[in-house]
Amino acid sequence: MTHHDARIIAFTIVITAWSAPTRAQQPDAEGANAVLPWAYVLNDPTSGNAQADDPAEVVTVPGSSVSMPRSAISIAAGPPDWHPDGHPPMPELVAKGGGDGVAACGYCHLPNGQGKPENASVAGQPYAYIVQQMADWRNGLRKTGEPRMGPPSFMQRIGLAATDEQARVAAEYFSSMDYKPWVRVVETDMVPKTHFAGWIHQVIEGGGTEPIGTRIVETPEDLHLTHLRDDASSFVAYVPTGAVARGERLATGNGKTEACAVCHGPGLRGLGPVPALAGRSPSYIARQLYDLQTGVRNGTWSDLMDATVSDLTTEDIVNLAAYTASLAP
Ligand code: HEC
Ligand code: HEC
Repeated sequence: MTHHDARIIAFTIVITAWSAPTRAQQPDAEGANAVLPWAYVLNDPTSGNAQADDPAEVVTVPGSSVSMPRSAISIAAGPPDWHPDGHPPMPELVAKGGGDGVAACGYCHLPNGQGKPENASVAGQPYAYIVQQMADWRNGLRKTGEPRMGPPSFMQRIGLAATDEQARVAAEYFSSMDYKPWVRVVETDMVPKTHFAGWIHQVIEGGGTEPIGTRIVETPEDLHLTHLRDDASSFVAYVPTGAVARGERLATGNGKTEACAVCHGPGLRGLGPVPALAGRSPSYIARQLYDLQTGVRNGTWSDLMDATVSDLTTEDIVNLAAYTASLAP
C-alpha cells in the first residue's frame, strides 16, 4: 500500500467515525421529542372508550380469595390487594395514599412493588436510592423526556408533594422486598401488532405481525389481569434478534460506555445505593437512559451516568435495555 492509499484510508475512517450513527438525543422537525415512541407510550386518540366494562361486574384473579366490583378499583381507593400473602403489610401511604396529591404508591407500582412498563419496579431497590429519587423530584431535578405521557408526569407531581417522612416510609417498605422475575425477554424479527392504550402496548387481537425494527415491544402476558392490577401477572418484552448479545458487549465497557457492573454491581443487581437494573422493565430503562442523556433527569447522583450515556444511539438504548431486562434479578 502506498503512502497515499494509507492517508485515504485514514481519512475515510475519520469521516466514517464522524458521521457514524447519531446520538439518540435528536429533536424532530417541530423540535418536539419524537424519539422512543415505543418507550414513552402516548395513548392512541381513538383508544379512550375502547373499554366498555361494566363497573358492577364482580372480578377476581387466579390464586386469590378476594373479589370486588370493578368500580372498587380506583386510584382514590388504592390498589386492590389480591395477594396479601405476597408482600409485608402495606403502610397506609402505599395502600391508600398520603393526602395532598400523594397518591397511593401501590396503585401504580403494585402492592408488591413489581411495577409496570409505564411506571417502574421499586421492589428491592436500595433504601438510600429511593429516598434520593424522591428528593430529586421534590427539588425539581428529575423530570421526564415526554411530559405528554401521563404516568411519569404524575410521578413528578407526587414527588413534588411527598414529604421526607413519606419518602422514608415508602423506601423502607419497597426496599424490604425482593424483586422477582417479571419480564420474559423474547428475541424476534416480527412482533404482534399493538396499539397504545392505558400508556402501554396492547396486542391487537387478530392484528397479525409486523417487523420489530429498532424497538422494544413490552406488553402484558395477560391484558385482562394487568387491567385488574394483579401483582402476580407479569410481562413479555419482544426485542430485536441479537439485541441481548449486542447489549452485553456495550455493558461490559468498550470505550463507548463505562462498564455497568463497576457501579451497578455483579449481575447488575445493585451495589450500595446504586440501583439494580437486572430483569427490570426495558421500557422504563430505555426512558431513563434517554432522560439521563438529555439531562431532564439531573439528580444529585446523575452525573455518575454522564460518561455512560453521552454517546448512546437509539439502537444502543434498545440493546442495553434488552440486555438488562434479560438478566436474572
Ligand atoms: C400514578 C402512578 C404512580 C403513583 C401513584 C406513584 N408512582 Fe412512583 N412512579 C410512577 C412512574 C410513571 C414512574 C416512572 C417515571 C419515569 O418513567 O420517568 C415512577 C417512578 C418511581 C420511582 C423511581 C424508581 C427508580 O428506579 O428510579 C420511585 C422511587 C417511585 N416512583 C416512588 C413512588 C412512591 C414512594 C410513591 C407513593 C408516595 C409513588 N411512587 C407513587 C408512577 C407512580
Ligand atoms: C460510575 C458509576 C456508574 C456506571 C459506570 C454506570 N452507572 Fe448507571 N447509574 C449510576 C448511578 C449513581 C445511578 C443513579 C442516578 C441518579 O440517581 O440519577 C445510575 C442510574 C442508572 C439507570 C436508571 C435506573 C433507575 O432505576 O432509574 C440506568 C438505566 C442505568 N444507570 C444504566 C446503566 C448502564 C446500562 C450502564 C453501563 C452501560 C451504567 N448504568 C453504568 C452509576 C453508574
